[in-house]
Amino acid sequence: MNMKEMFADALMPHLKETPLTSEQVLQLIEKPKYENLGDLAFPCFQLSKLLRKSPAIIANEIAEKLQSSSISSVEVKGAYVNVFFDKVLVGKAIIDKVIARGTSYGSNDVNSRGKVVIDFSSPNIAKPFSMGHLRSTVIGNALAAIAEKNGYESVKINHLGDWGTQFGKLITAYKLWGNEEEVRENTIPTLLKLYVQFHEEAEKDPTLVEEGRRSFQKLENGDQEAVALWKWFRNESLKEFNKVYTLLGVTFDAVQGESYYNEHMEEVVKELEEKEILEESDGALVVTLNDDMPPCLIQKNDGTTLYATRDLAAAKFRKETYDFVKCLYIVGGEQQLHFQQLFQVLQIMDEEWAADMVHIPFGLILKDGKKMSTRKGKVVLLEEVLQEAINKTKQNIIDKNPLLDNIDDVAKQVGVGAVIFHDLKNERIGNVEFNLDQMLTFEGETGPYVQYTIARGNTLLAKAKTKQHSFKGLDGDLSWEVIKLLEQFPAVIERAFTAYEPSIVAKYVIKLAQAFNSFYGNVKILQEDKHQESRLALTQSVTIVLTEGLRLLGMQAPEKM
Ligand code: ARG
Repeated sequence: MNMKEMFADALMPHLKETPLTSEQVLQLIEKPKYENLGDLAFPCFQLSKLLRKSPAIIANEIAEKLQSSSISSVEVKGAYVNVFFDKVLVGKAIIDKVIARGTSYGSNDVNSRGKVVIDFSSPNIAKPFSMGHLRSTVIGNALAAIAEKNGYESVKINHLGDWGTQFGKLITAYKLWGNEEEVRENTIPTLLKLYVQFHEEAEKDPTLVEEGRRSFQKLENGDQEAVALWKWFRNESLKEFNKVYTLLGVTFDAVQGESYYNEHMEEVVKELEEKEILEESDGALVVTLNDDMPPCLIQKNDGTTLYATRDLAAAKFRKETYDFVKCLYIVGGEQQLHFQQLFQVLQIMDEEWAADMVHIPFGLILKDGKKMSTRKGKVVLLEEVLQEAINKTKQNIIDKNPLLDNIDDVAKQVGVGAVIFHDLKNERIGNVEFNLDQMLTFEGETGPYVQYTIARGNTLLAKAKTKQHSFKGLDGDLSWEVIKLLEQFPAVIERAFTAYEPSIVAKYVIKLAQAFNSFYGNVKILQEDKHQESRLALTQSVTIVLTEGLRLLGMQAPEKM
């Protein structure tokens, strides 16, 4: 039972005359505005309406009778019943639980609540791995871990952008101006250059556009040369992307790009035809939508398919293959209309699972207030950005702790972790200002700050003479703040998934780290007195929960730093 449940349990016997259910009581319980007012509060406004009595009178009546072994005192403040818990008793229950369960503390016991497909990262081949794809990658990866912690099975899919008219253009450009050696050596910038060149030349010579279109048609029809070139571009691009994934420590259950669904295109078009929802419009095939949405284009007048068609096929394939309970798309807010259209087409097709599809948008990454752009050949390679974060971290560590073992590993965990944390600490829908120096500091609300707190805890635990720490009880306010936060971890994990919001976990670990650091700064944890063991047990619990919190965000925590 958590503290809210304990309080609700104590309240229920005194609410028998009211229609309130324990579920509703739980909902009503809140944290008082100020810590010194109590640990939890029960507002009596609603009861006042129901019972036609003043809320203060009701609060007093409840407070007089309230009894619970875990509650040490009850106070009435206006319309609120405020309670203070027994720090020793409740604290012990919480710390014992964290230590007993270890990393599985906060995990949902339900073995499988079903599969959650997560479509994330999904960069476009022959183009740089953009900042937007970085966001999708870290948010999707965190949501997969959070889903698992909540008792779901996650299926991580990289829906690579590896199909579409742009590859017709690229094939045409390569055949005209390409150089094999150059592509091999400097893949992404070279392919990007060819693509840019195509557009420049096409302005002077419009027949090129036609040529590009024909190349894509050839590709869709399986033409040998076109397919071979495409495969090569794809492989070379994937090699580059994999460097980024390795650095980030991100893996996928399936890399099923858009091309994967090429052979399912006809089926989809046929099904739409059979269901009589496909209409012709200027030789193209579309599905008309409601809610003032533009129609969804399914097939162009030259017979080639589109992004939306491939997403439609992918959705159906995923339902058949994984029988998901949810299918999440971690894609920037710019594609909102695309997903609204996609989901509505599925609805019109009478797929009842259309309601389980969720677009999870996020904001932009900005540099000095402007979108970090990769167009016009101005390439920011993500791999280089991450490498810079690692190098700068290494320098920071050398300044702080030059004798540290395996500095390179630590620099990698901290440098990459800083980038991930910076992305995840704010609500995903907002924009993120990319500032390396800021995200790398060991102070403030950063990844390195949390990692450093864990390392500090580990150092204390390593210095202690005993290795088993059992919590006997601490009654100070600072330790109590830490304990109350530890207690919230399971609820935090649940909320993070329901809201698809890794920032809830990130904000939580910051708060816990801050609370622990205040405790650390005010007491001597290792002092040999009767409370030493309890302080160590508290320290151990904090390192367990912080480490687990970072793992959920896709970060590692170095033993020492
Ligand atoms: N490749 C696309 C892009 O970069 C993102 C794909 C997202 N996933 C999807 N199923 N549409 O814009």
